[in-house]
Amino acid sequence: MCGIVGYIGKREAVPILIEGLKRLEYRGYDSAGIALIVDSKIALHKNVGKIVALEKLVEGQDTSSHIGIGHTRWATHGVPSIANAHPHIDCSGRIAIIHNGIIENYGSLKRQLQNSGHEFHSETDTETLAHLIEEFYRGDLEEAVRNALVEVEGTYGILVICSEEPDRIVAARRGSPLLIGVGNGEHFAASDASAILQHTRDVVYLDDNEMALLTREQFVTKNVQAEVIPKKVEKIAYDLEKIERGGYDHFMLKEICEQPQSIQDCMRGRLLPKEGTVRLGGLHEHLDQLLNTRRIILTACGTSWHASLIGEYILEDFLRIPVEVEYASEFRYRNPVIDEGTVVVVVSQSGETADTLAALRETKKRRAPVIGICNVVGSSIARETVAGVYLHVGPEIGVASTKAFTAQVTVLTLIALLLARKKWMSQEEGQRIIAELEKIPQKIEKILTLNKSILELAKAYKDARNFLYLGRGYNFPVALEGALKLKEISYIHAEGYPAAEMKHGPIALIDENMPVVFIAIRDSSYEKILSNIEEVKARGGRVIAVVNEGDEKILSTVDHAIPIPETLEFLSPLLTIVPLQLLAYHIAILRGCNVDQPRNLAKSVTVE
Ligand code: G6P
Repeated sequence: MCGIVGYIGKREAVPILIEGLKRLEYRGYDSAGIALIVDSKIALHKNVGKIVALEKLVEGQDTSSHIGIGHTRWATHGVPSIANAHPHIDCSGRIAIIHNGIIENYGSLKRQLQNSGHEFHSETDTETLAHLIEEFYRGDLEEAVRNALVEVEGTYGILVICSEEPDRIVAARRGSPLLIGVGNGEHFAASDASAILQHTRDVVYLDDNEMALLTREQFVTKNVQAEVIPKKVEKIAYDLEKIERGGYDHFMLKEICEQPQSIQDCMRGRLLPKEGTVRLGGLHEHLDQLLNTRRIILTACGTSWHASLIGEYILEDFLRIPVEVEYASEFRYRNPVIDEGTVVVVVSQSGETADTLAALRETKKRRAPVIGICNVVGSSIARETVAGVYLHVGPEIGVASTKAFTAQVTVLTLIALLLARKKWMSQEEGQRIIAELEKIPQKIEKILTLNKSILELAKAYKDARNFLYLGRGYNFPVALEGALKLKEISYIHAEGYPAAEMKHGPIALIDENMPVVFIAIRDSSYEKILSNIEEVKARGGRVIAVVNEGDEKILSTVDHAIPIPETLEFLSPLLTIVPLQLLAYHIAILRGCNVDQPRNLAKSVTVE
């Protein structure tokens, strides 16, 4: 999704902006651009495609400037093109703006502006804002931006510069993340800390309806009424090299292989093996409320939604209360019943997904308690929920989520365990679960040693045009997630189903060209899964199965087996997903796909 970076200071702006934009590439984008102030004029450079193309474009041009803004665009209004790429400028060419989010009333604003003589050069909603600011400009950019924003409905994170005020950047936020980086005689602005982390770790997060004025020497944060609001400078804890690929060919592979460590990080300091329970600081003050909950709704999008489905199974199993899982995009619009005693849990890696954030706000409007489970510290969801649990797995850069998924499942398991122990579960039972949780990282380590054989499997199946993934119980959501991983990054059509549902439709598709991936571990539905495998084999289907080590019986039935260690049934998704992530990764690589930035997808979907 779109990315923002801005710089004002004593150094050349262009290398800082280009570097920052490169760091934002992982979010997914289709075009990019920068605006500088050179010789008291706005200099605009935009290109379609990758940042390197933009970098080439500016080479050899006069770009000496100490102030600039840069943007990666992921098209929402208008096709990816140079005209639609940001920054956008006003008629006079004095004002340049970059914008994340959507101006919902841009149609009516645009008509009014056109009627008063403004000429538009793009199909974007953002350009409207450039002209609107121009309309209000009387020599004070900050004031003009403030007046323009009063007219705007929708969401924005913006940076604005004006050639007549070459010593300032104006920033504003509503519904789209924006932070300021504080340097020595220089300031940065970005939608995401990774864009500026190589320069400073001191950041200030803007909240909704806040503006900031950046100069070389200082920054001032204000609310919409222009009142100064002092904000805390926070230190970013994670390291830049953590964001780098660390020797792996791709971020996705790195993140898959990191899972033994990331799950450990997620559990660190939270397990109480002796007491057979867990400590979750972020929920501590709300424990009573949680214990009295009569119904839980989990809401999320994409992979986080799949993790939530596993959460549903475990929470219901452990707490014996109804648990529902809702797509956030549906939940927010369908007037859901949120009665007293209902707790809503929003699950999101980025903490910025527009639909999930809207579901959270909808819940808050109805005065129901909302708990957040997210990874990005300081994200909107983290800040707008009263209680929550961080994943603590470090930045996830690959667009296809992997380590965040296993951490989400881990956190949901820890919540279920904490509440069950308070309610009914014996200390002994709790101890048994904790002991098993502690073994998960080393079991994943063992699965990762299968990487080569999974690559061979990928070679055999890389040309398939469709895949079916089947699982039951706790591993039905794993089937969905396995299929999602494959389709996201390899562009092979893949569907996940509960194995028994196959008979109600997908079985019609089965022949030798339709590989079927089963999660067939020795759990409570093992015998039933074996029958489903037979049904596929009887129709000439080819079967790849994730099985338990030492399961000789299944080997004669399936075409390929991926043996993994055993664990408790409700923890099995933490293991069974790993070979499916690797399978998707290798197939995508063999097909020449860009796994870290798959086409049309974005890491953080901040539009609905
Ligand atoms: C996008 C990403 C997915 C992610 C989903 C939800 O579609 O490509 O990987 O699962 O958004 O994102 P969230 O940050 O809310 O977990």
